This record gives sequence, structure tokens and C-alpha cells, in this order.
Amino acid sequence: MTRLRIFFVCFLPISVFVSGCGRPEKKMQFEPNLVLAQATKIKVGDIYPMETAVSEATTVVNEMFGSPNEPKLPNDLLEDEQKSFLNTENLEKASGPVAAGRGLYRQHCIACHGVTGNGRGINAMQADVYPRDFRMGKFKFKSTTRGAKPMKEDLYTTIRKGIAGTTMVAIKELSDEDVNTLVDYVIYLSVRGEVERNLIIASEEIAFEEGDHLYLAGSKGFDDNQKDMVKETVAAVMDSWVNAESKVKQAPEPGDVPITATVAELRAAAASDQDSPLKKSIARGKELFAAETASCYKCHGPKGYGDGGTQDYDAWTKDWTSDRGIDPTNEEALIPLQALGGLPPRKIVPRDFRKGIYRGGAAPEKLYLRIAHGIDGTPMPAAEGVLQPADIWSLINYVRSLEEPSKDLTAN
Ligand code: HEC
Ligand code: HEC
Repeated sequence: MTRLRIFFVCFLPISVFVSGCGRPEKKMQFEPNLVLAQATKIKVGDIYPMETAVSEATTVVNEMFGSPNEPKLPNDLLEDEQKSFLNTENLEKASGPVAAGRGLYRQHCIACHGVTGNGRGINAMQADVYPRDFRMGKFKFKSTTRGAKPMKEDLYTTIRKGIAGTTMVAIKELSDEDVNTLVDYVIYLSVRGEVERNLIIASEEIAFEEGDHLYLAGSKGFDDNQKDMVKETVAAVMDSWVNAESKVKQAPEPGDVPITATVAELRAAAASDQDSPLKKSIARGKELFAAETASCYKCHGPKGYGDGGTQDYDAWTKDWTSDRGIDPTNEEALIPLQALGGLPPRKIVPRDFRKGIYRGGAAPEKLYLRIAHGIDGTPMPAAEGVLQPADIWSLINYVRSLEEPSKDLTAN
């Protein structure tokens, strides 16, 4: 019965304005980044013409990237390689209302990530870990070095498998093609949001009071003085995606360090009276964990319970608080920002290794990437260059050996 109805509604032309088939919906718009603009105003002072800056940045970005129902790319501003990086058919399929051949993002992702990809979907507040705001262009779980964009394959894995220990679960009904489609759309939202963000930040420098503009009212369009700046902003963001491939650095072979398939083997070796290469490696890892060089203990605590440094925030929170001179613990100062959509700051918690839950994947070679490259957007630093590969492998053996077999702990 329901199926039949969906079938009919979705094939009517009216479906363009319908979400969830049957419920009328007003045409969706991307939300402007008012939180960043307000934080910029607090930082710069009242001379910052926030309303003008936001309204012009919004017009420019909408002109270039279209709307949630009709996404597009500013092809006239892009080089060939940048143009072909995202597949426009994928953008079409992932976007729009839920209807035949469209609306994948709205169906599966919007409740957490929001229509704009700003991490403020209706379920955002319920989660311990806020859903990601894609607009900073920072991603955590990837095969590229710290600061670089992820590969499409990395985003594919995240969406395919979900993120362990968070509300983001694997969605089995998505085909591999659907996931690839969503990867392009996440990148599109991220590029759009990062360009918008960079334009808002750049508008600190625009002499609006002297008649300079990003965009001119009426039919005049882009301000010629600023057009190069806009073009460079878009090109730089697109290039960071196109060039991510040159920043890939996978885990090297563990060489002499034994790596086990199961955690049980590690636990057995650690508990055994007999010396073995595995036992030695765990001991070496333990020593490194507590040493000053890598300082793992400072954040993860002396026993790896995640109770060392627990007063810090992630980059997404700092962006509109401490980075702009606003104290994230000052509730009163946050009111105007929260009124515009800023989520209440939550401290970032270093991982508790007893749980054995790894968001970026529990396989040893995934843990290697997390430790070697660090985790973007969080205080977790890159150990590459500080530690030798063999030492990183030993740290992995130690960290994995801390997992407790108790089901109670792993059940979250
Ligand atoms: C129930 C809520 C929820 C839903 C639904 C959800 N996500 Fe997420 N997502 C999250 C949370 C929470 C995080 C942040 C995890 C973290 O920061 O460690 C996240 C993070 C991400 C990331 C960032 C990964 C990284 O490497 O930093 C991507 C990409 C992503 N989600 C894509 C999607 C896509 C695409 C969909 C729809 C198929 C989706 N998510 C559906 C909650 C959700
Ligand atoms: C400055 C603080 C800090 C230091 C130093 C630090 N970490 Fe972390 N680490 C974190 C935080 C915070 C997280 C959680 C990041 C998140 O939630 O996205 C984390 C997460 C992790 C994870 C989980 C990865 C996953 O996929 O879930 C591992 C493993 C890890 N750290 C190992 C280490 C090791 C080994 C060292 C020392 C070489 C170390 N960390 C040093 C703060 C730190």
C-alpha cells in the first residue's frame, strides 16, 4: 500500500517539491554560515559589516554551487582536472528530495549532517559526538598525511562501514554505487562550505565602506575587483582535493615486529611467563607510551583509560570560539553564537583503549595511519618523524593489548 503510493507520488512532476513522498516541503536552501560570521564580528569588532559580508558571500556561493535541489559547479572558474573531479550526475542523484533516482543524501544523512552539511541535522544534539560539519574541509579517517584532504576511497570506507563508537552506522541497503555517489556529494558540500568560509574570512579585508564588494547588486554579478580572489579561493579548495593523492602514505610492513590477527593472542603473550618477540614488542610499546617523546600518556592517561588531557576541544568548536578570542567555557559569551546555531561546546575525549573501539577501523594498519598521521581536527598529533615505524607497530601492540574482554565495556 505504502509502496504503491510512493510509486505514484514520485513519478509526478510535483515530486520536485516533495520530501519523503507525500509530505509537501518548501524548497530547501543552504544555510549561511552565520556562526562563523558572528564570531568574526566579535573578533574584528563592530566595524566588520557582517550582514553585507554574509549576504554577498551567500550570493556568490549560491551562484557558483546552486541549491540543495539543483547543485552545480562553477565550471567557468575551474581547470579541466578540477572540473572532472566530481561527477555531476552523482551530485544530481545524491541531492534533491527523496524521489526516484534522487535524494540519497536527504534520505540517509540529513538527519545528522543537515541539508548544508553543517552537522546540525535534527538529531545532532542527541549524539555524544556531534555529527561532522563538512564545511571546514577537515576529515579524520584517511590514508593521507595530517592536514591533507582524504582520498575518495577513504570517504567510501567511512560511509560504507560507519564510524564505530558513534551514532553513524553502516547502512546496508546502500549499493556500492550509492556510496560512491554520496562520496561526491559530501565533497561537493565540503568544497561549497569551505569556499563560503574562506570568503567570509577574506571579507575581513574587503573595504566595503569604500564601495568594494564581492558581488554587485542587481544584474551586475561578480565584482570584477574581487573576481580573481573568488576564483583563487575556489581553485585552492578544489586543488586540495585533486592533489590529495600525492599525500597518501600507507602503513609500511611491520618487518620484525609480530602483528597478530586477534587481540586474544596479544593478551596471552602479555600474560605469559615466557619471553617472546611479541611480549617484547608490547613491553617496548608500553615504555614508549609513557615516554616524553610521543607523550601518549599525557592525553590517553598513564594506563590508556582516556583520562589524561580531557580539557581540550576539537577544531570545529575552536573555529568559532577560542580561535576568534571567545572562551568556550564562557556561557554568556556563547549566547549570541548559539542563537545562530552554534552547538554547545563539548570537550574532546581521548580514546579509552580498554574499550577496543576504534572509529577509523580496528585493523592494525588502520591504527598505524591514525598514530603516524595523527587525527585531523583533534589534538591527537602525528607520530611520524617522531617515532620509527617499528616503534609505532610496538605501540599498536601495546594499545591493542589493553582491550578488556568484558562485553559491558565494548557494548557502547
Ligand atoms: C545518526 C547520525 C549520522 C548519520 C545518519 C550519518 N552520520 Fe556521518 N557522522 C556522524 C557523526 C557523529 C560523525 C562524527 C564522527 C567523529 O567525529 O569522530 C560523522 C562523520 C562523518 C564523516 C567524516 C569522516 C571523517 O573522516 O572525518 C563523513 C564523511 C560522514 N559522516 C558522511 C556521512 C554520510 C554520507 C551519511 C549518509 C549516508 C552519514 N554520514 C550519515 C553521524 C551520522
Ligand atoms: C595531545 C593529546 C594526544 C596525544 C599526545 C595522543 N593522543 Fe591519541 N588521541 C587523542 C584524542 C583527543 C583522540 C580522539 C580523537 C577523536 O575522537 O576523534 C585520540 C585517539 C587515538 C586513537 C584512536 C583512533 C581511532 O581510530 O579511534 C589511537 C589508537 C590513539 N589516539 C593512539 C595514540 C598513541 C599511540 C599516542 C602516542 C604516540 C597518542 N595517541 C597520543 C589525543 C592524543
